[in-house]
Amino acid sequence: MDMSKLAARLAEAGQSHILQFWDQLSPKEQAEMSLDLTSMNFMEINTFFKNAMKTSGQCSQEKVDSRMEPVPREVLGSVTRDHESLKEWEEEGLRCISENKVAVLLLAGGQGTRLGVPYPKGMYDVGLPSHKTLFQIQAERIRRLEQLAENQHSRKCCIPWYIMTSGRTMDMTKEFFLQHKYFGLKESNVLFFQQGMLPAVDFNGKIILEGKGKLAMAPDGNGGLYRALGTQNIVKNMEKRGVSHIHVYCVDNILVKVADPAFIGFCSLKGADCGAKVVEKMNPTEAVGVVCKVDGRYQVVEYSEITLATAEKRSTDGRLMFNAGNIANHFFTLAFLKEIVSIHEPQLQHHVAQKKIPYVNTQGQLIKPGKPNGIKMEKFVFDIFQFAKTFVVYEVLREDEFSPLKNADSQDGKDNPTTARYALMSLHHRWVLNAGGNFVDENGTRIPAIPRHGPAGTVTPEVSQNLKDGTDLPIKCEISPLVSYGGEGLEHLVNGQAFQPTLVINESGVHELVKNGL
Ligand code: UD1
Repeated sequence: MDMSKLAARLAEAGQSHILQFWDQLSPKEQAEMSLDLTSMNFMEINTFFKNAMKTSGQCSQEKVDSRMEPVPREVLGSVTRDHESLKEWEEEGLRCISENKVAVLLLAGGQGTRLGVPYPKGMYDVGLPSHKTLFQIQAERIRRLEQLAENQHSRKCCIPWYIMTSGRTMDMTKEFFLQHKYFGLKESNVLFFQQGMLPAVDFNGKIILEGKGKLAMAPDGNGGLYRALGTQNIVKNMEKRGVSHIHVYCVDNILVKVADPAFIGFCSLKGADCGAKVVEKMNPTEAVGVVCKVDGRYQVVEYSEITLATAEKRSTDGRLMFNAGNIANHFFTLAFLKEIVSIHEPQLQHHVAQKKIPYVNTQGQLIKPGKPNGIKMEKFVFDIFQFAKTFVVYEVLREDEFSPLKNADSQDGKDNPTTARYALMSLHHRWVLNAGGNFVDENGTRIPAIPRHGPAGTVTPEVSQNLKDGTDLPIKCEISPLVSYGGEGLEHLVNGQAFQPTLVINESGVHELVKNGL
């Protein structure tokens, strides 16, 4: 280790304070710290800070708000309004999958701070009858979809699964997949890669120490994806496999339709290079970003970056004016991603999040601040929308496709393990009803059925609202993704039959757990 060189680099970048406790560190701590520091580019970090502060100053909320426009109707596809096109979109998507053109990319580098578990969120068990984790549910949806595409096109295919982790989640995630034999997927089709980390800095751009020999580091946001795609050779890997369509999604949505053929088919047939799935934002304070245009270019304005006044604006039909709620499901062509990685990535600015960051003071004591004392810098995955040549938006039903796991159960009752579990069970309940099954209580009395209409998985708004509110607790019902991806293929199992909950349908058959004493 060449300490004098390192000290000179730090001095040049105005970050010498990082070494203030150097003499108090053990040789092992010194070795670890110098290893961490050697690989860091301090001048680049300073530039990130300067640019991020400049952009966040320029983008003061009022200024952004006044430049926002809703998504125009002509780029919008909708599972409800464009019902007659759904089949065509789905067939196109399945065709692309059968030709090995589709990959999925999971963003799983977040720290899950709000959920408060010391392991990656994908390993969370929300308490379904099967106790499947989010990772397992997603893996099984991929397996089922491969099977559906294979059956329809009579050729073997695979959907490679790229999983972005961070320094904080990589080892545990990999270990978990290994332990569970990749949930039945081929190991060679599950590819892990790591996003970058950045130090937290104070409001003057000085790197914060969280220990005498340790910087306060955090992943560089889910938009860290684009740098990682290049540095970790992921784009090359996709190219080698012949992938051309990529579905990028976040780990926490229990209802996520991984590689949704209808979404992929819609984007593909529209000739889009970039697409976003949205649900209607109902409540102005809901923590979802909104897809919109700013200065004529597509963008997501994050829930933390919009003023209440703008979030509350309504159109003449009474709906929120900015109601294209981002559910973090994006479509990109490989050609578009290649262009981002090779040209635009450095132009993406970091967003600034003010945080309370534990730090060591000059006496070396660890302080937990009561108010924000610094910032974390993050790029966002949707910041590349602005570079799209053909951008499309695909609107889906919240009750079918969006129930994110963000908070622990003890918090405000929103987006937690209970709501995620209920959302999945109520969807599966509706699938059974739509396939002609029914439910009875322990006395054999028919449990009033939810009115059926429309395709599998759709119900009237009143009923879905009741289910969301918990006015109607869901019937306990879980269908393995290995049996059904989106409500298909259930008729022969349930039509004309009455089941007593808890109902579990999996590869080994149809099981009424209570009745069977399970
Ligand atoms: C995200 C969206 C928001 C959307 C909401 C829907 C972003 C920036 N925001 O918000 O517009 O309405 O989901 O639920 O996408 N992650 C990484 N690396 C990181 C940070 C996060 O991979 O450095 C991953 C997480 O593991 C997670 C996803 O990105 O899968 C979203 O992160 P999170 O911080 O939970 O985003 P939200 O604030 O909920």
